[in-house]
Amino acid sequence: MSISVVILAAGQGTRMKSTTPKVLHEISGKSMLFHAIDAAKALSDDITVVLYHQAERIQNEIEKHYENIHFHMQDAEKYPGTGGAMKGVEVQHDKALILNGDMPLVTMDALNALTEGDADINMSVIKLDNPTGYGRVVIFNDKVQEIVEEKDCIPAQKEIQTVNAGVYCVKKEILERYIPALNNYNAQREYYLTDIIKMAVEEGKSIHPVIVEEEEFKGVNSKLDLAHAEEILQRRIKTAWMKAGVTMRLPETIYIDSRATFEGECMLENGVSIQGTSHIIDSHIKTHSVIEDSHIENSDVGPMGRVRPNSKLIDTHIGNFVEVKKSTLTGVKAGHLAYIGDASIEEGSNIGAGVITCNYDGKNKFQTKIGKNVFVGSDTQLVAPVTIPDDVMIAAGTTVTKDATSGDLVLSRSPQKSIKNFFYKFFGKA
Ligand code: UD1
Ligand code: MG
Repeated sequence: MSISVVILAAGQGTRMKSTTPKVLHEISGKSMLFHAIDAAKALSDDITVVLYHQAERIQNEIEKHYENIHFHMQDAEKYPGTGGAMKGVEVQHDKALILNGDMPLVTMDALNALTEGDADINMSVIKLDNPTGYGRVVIFNDKVQEIVEEKDCIPAQKEIQTVNAGVYCVKKEILERYIPALNNYNAQREYYLTDIIKMAVEEGKSIHPVIVEEEEFKGVNSKLDLAHAEEILQRRIKTAWMKAGVTMRLPETIYIDSRATFEGECMLENGVSIQGTSHIIDSHIKTHSVIEDSHIENSDVGPMGRVRPNSKLIDTHIGNFVEVKKSTLTGVKAGHLAYIGDASIEEGSNIGAGVITCNYDGKNKFQTKIGKNVFVGSDTQLVAPVTIPDDVMIAAGTTVTKDATSGDLVLSRSPQKSIKNFFYKFFGKA
């Protein structure tokens, strides 16, 4: 990989109206910045992220998930602007792709197109009916001359509909020559990266405009933009999985995390939410079920089932209003209204309606272990830690506090009493 990537992420993002840095806002389960880093990882082994606002928080977040990312602190007081962001950035390879941290919709195809060829600068351009807000690309005799920021445009330049999409692939020698020479003699008193175009043109360097799609290069600046980007990414994710063979009923009502994966014959009904790094194989997820960071294989969940992180369901049936958390169920039926947390349950076991694993004593979490062919009667409470071996029957309404032995019937019930004619004495007889 002979290209470096620089991701600009030092901007403040005030329009997000949030204490969370803009680039850490998530789209389809992954922060915008991580979308950019993942794209960069596919292209390069030399990635630099430029930070300033909330730099420490962003750097920590990146270091939790990635290795070998370089960080560059912009001196934004002295050198504000996208050109200021590039001051002092060192790249290892002959070319650098410069990306923005707030463009989560850029595709690999578009980035690849920008890295091709041998021009001194490849720059992304879009043709727009309404160019408001973008830097205008001045073209003369089919040759790019310069980029003029909107605030610096003379009226005639404002009419230009060819705009700078903000991603560039630049030869290292160009960066080394022109970044130190940038000035801030403009309306915003900022150091504009875009000024390198004019400087390069003046010295006869080659500038190659690459036409890109507006949808992919749209920056996310507000919560409205964030929601809009989410819609676009969701449409892409679902389209790709349907093409790969996943059946979806009313796909516009379904949410799928960008990290989730499917295998074999899967069916998702309307309103389903597949979150985190869930992996679903040959399974049927019914209406309004939520799956989070779990492995589901040859199973069915819902309607209205909830599978919370670190669960593994294999050959299992989970019915309505059943919540499973951090549990492994293999060949189990849990049809109705249950909470199964920190448990392992083996083949042939049946979990009755209203069964609860009492996994938490207010201080610590404990495990419930249930073997094969165990019948857990309705409304049983399993007070963990507790182990039920194979071939046990637990009567409805039992509070299980002790381990059982294979072959047992376990029951804890106060004996049933009947008080003769109490009803008639209390309410009278019709
Ligand atoms: C920039 C371009 C503009 C282009 C537009 C496309 C410049 C001068 N203008 O404008 O021609 O049409 O993108 O979206 O480059 N950043 C820093 N440090 C800073 C300022 C910004 O790292 O001091 C980062 C931001 O976090 C962001 C990126 O650079 O990721 C772009 O900054 P932004 O302020 O959005 O640039 P625009 O004014 O939109
Ligand atoms: Mg912008």
